[in-house]
Amino acid sequence: MKGKDFLSVADLSSEEVLQMVQKAMAMKAEVSARPLEGKQFALLFEKPSLRTRVSFEVGIRQMGGQCVYLSKDDVGLGTREPEEDIARVLDRWVDGIIARVYSHRSLEILSKHTSIPVLNALSDMEHPCQAMADMLTIQEHKGSFDGLRVAFIGDGNNVACSLSLACASVGADFVLASPKDYQMPSPVLEEAKRRAAVNESSVDWVETPAEAVEGADVVYTDTWVSMGHEAEKAERLPIFKDYKVDESLVKGAKSDFVFMHDMPAYRGQEVSDGMIDHPRSVVFDQAENRLHAQKAILAELFSNISNISK
Ligand code: NVA
Repeated sequence: MKGKDFLSVADLSSEEVLQMVQKAMAMKAEVSARPLEGKQFALLFEKPSLRTRVSFEVGIRQMGGQCVYLSKDDVGLGTREPEEDIARVLDRWVDGIIARVYSHRSLEILSKHTSIPVLNALSDMEHPCQAMADMLTIQEHKGSFDGLRVAFIGDGNNVACSLSLACASVGADFVLASPKDYQMPSPVLEEAKRRAAVNESSVDWVETPAEAVEGADVVYTDTWVSMGHEAEKAERLPIFKDYKVDESLVKGAKSDFVFMHDMPAYRGQEVSDGMIDHPRSVVFDQAENRLHAQKAILAELFSNISNISK
């Protein structure tokens, strides 16, 4: 790991992404390990959450730790108090902060003013814990990442950014199909392409979903309106209307493709009702794997903790 935190998939080297997937498989098989015995965590969430909150709370308890959940109204990150002060206060009490924020910058401020690990539980730029659970799910269903084609249909958002970095790290091809103005931001795209070049894979953009899905091993979609973009909903829905993943679109994928969605799923918008329960859908495996992947990340961060300079 690059430092004390996990804010981006890029905090792991390519090799470490693969190692983390292996560690998550081991954590899933061996549920009794308790590397967080006596550790305390703050879960600082500015946005709603089902999967992330519950999987972190359950995972921390399974590993012997404890946590305190703080919602937007409890804390007022950057409104009631500056992020810097919140960081410095929490640093005195807890051993780690797991934060879901509107602005990725808030995570960087929390990181800068703490000596303890800060984990990104979703920001406007990345959702790295989701990506690690997704890689675990792909590994389980496909057995290997070599030569896989992962097609992400819709918005070049936080989930797409983290997934592209993770795919590029393990040598899987990643292709985004999105409207022209909804591609991934340049810094992430450049890092993903840099990793892909080293690992002999590719990161591409196309405009039409059918082109992306052609021959795909994984077809992935996410909401067209991420948290924080609610005011753009009326503008976005018509722009994305041709990006729905349905039974007709996935006919272009390989016969043994898997369908993935990080959820919540907006049936009738980015995904048809039938795709969630499609025989090739693995969306509930993905949800379960949040638990195992995050336990691996926590175990790794806290096994390194003695090497981290304060
Ligand atoms: N892209 C979505 C992911 C939700 C888990 C969002 O940021 O709202």
